[in-house]
Amino acid sequence: MSLEVRFASFSLQGLNVQAASSSFFAGSQVSKTITIAVARPIFPEVLTRLREHFTVLDNQDDLPWAPEPWGQCLSRCDGVLTTMADPLNALILQGNTRLKVAANMAVGFNNFNLPELSALGVLATNTPDVLTQTTADLGFALLMACARRMSESERYLRAGLWTSWRYDFFAGTEIHGSTLGILGMGRIGQAVAKRAHHGFDMPVIYHNRSRLSVQTEVALGASFVTRDELLERSDHLMLVLPYSPEVHHTMGAQEMARMKPGSHLINIARGGLVDENALADALERGHLAGAALDVFENEPAVNPRLLAQQRIVMTPHTASSSVQTRLAMANLAADNLIDYFSTGKAKTPLNADVLVRSPA
Ligand code: GLV
Repeated sequence: MSLEVRFASFSLQGLNVQAASSSFFAGSQVSKTITIAVARPIFPEVLTRLREHFTVLDNQDDLPWAPEPWGQCLSRCDGVLTTMADPLNALILQGNTRLKVAANMAVGFNNFNLPELSALGVLATNTPDVLTQTTADLGFALLMACARRMSESERYLRAGLWTSWRYDFFAGTEIHGSTLGILGMGRIGQAVAKRAHHGFDMPVIYHNRSRLSVQTEVALGASFVTRDELLERSDHLMLVLPYSPEVHHTMGAQEMARMKPGSHLINIARGGLVDENALADALERGHLAGAALDVFENEPAVNPRLLAQQRIVMTPHTASSSVQTRLAMANLAADNLIDYFSTGKAKTPLNADVLVRSPA
């Protein structure tokens, strides 16, 4: 089907990004009555699954969306599959009475304004559990990489600067036996604690809104401490808490000053938790020995002060990115859409109260 025909067959008016509109509306099963949009490229086999049930508007070319055409596209949709980079709120959905479900292919859902979606009667879902172990793996890899200065020493080697051995050559910080602090002890935090306790004999301390059961604490070798104690005692402090405006810059200048001198900060949660300029200051002063970040305040832009810091290991928000896990996430998001439209329920709802108020 030509791009023009595809575009014409959905007869969408008002889309001012012609290139985006012609490629986005690539759905083929126009006879299906339920239409869903898939905001970003996903695994072709998941698109095929979705097309067995719905008319699907895909964006396999990954064309960028401005709020207006995005909102216009969604006004023709009953459901949408989003990623954590695709915002959804009342402003985007203004006047949209058709959208019923938004399935986020992420465990975090700060791209959704959940109260606004609930008020509009839109069921929101996310993808917990399937990414827990993979995300914990990368968190632990980042901890090890920054404590042992792996990116920095590899850059040195690749630059051809390695000419001799020295006793203090890229000397890092001990991992085994050192104290791991975890801020946010949900599923992923616990999976990190398990690796630290069982694999590396690390004392684990944590702070969380609610305390774990005694049995879980014993199984993970983890002790609950106050937030200040966590900052002061951790050799490596990992952030694994969900982001919301209330915890914006929860790690600011004061908190970093409170951290143990020579310690490391690792963030696998959301960039907005860390004041990046305060982090750059703490590293420049030498108060912190290093940091590892998988997430950034203004993704995909990275604060130039962080880029200039040799002692930070950085990955482009890839903590859940193994092929198996990303496929499981995409399939769970698809399951949520399919289940919702076939049974009125979803596997992993975030605002299940919507189902009671306005069943499918
Ligand atoms: C990734 O950041 C996620 O929330 O799944």
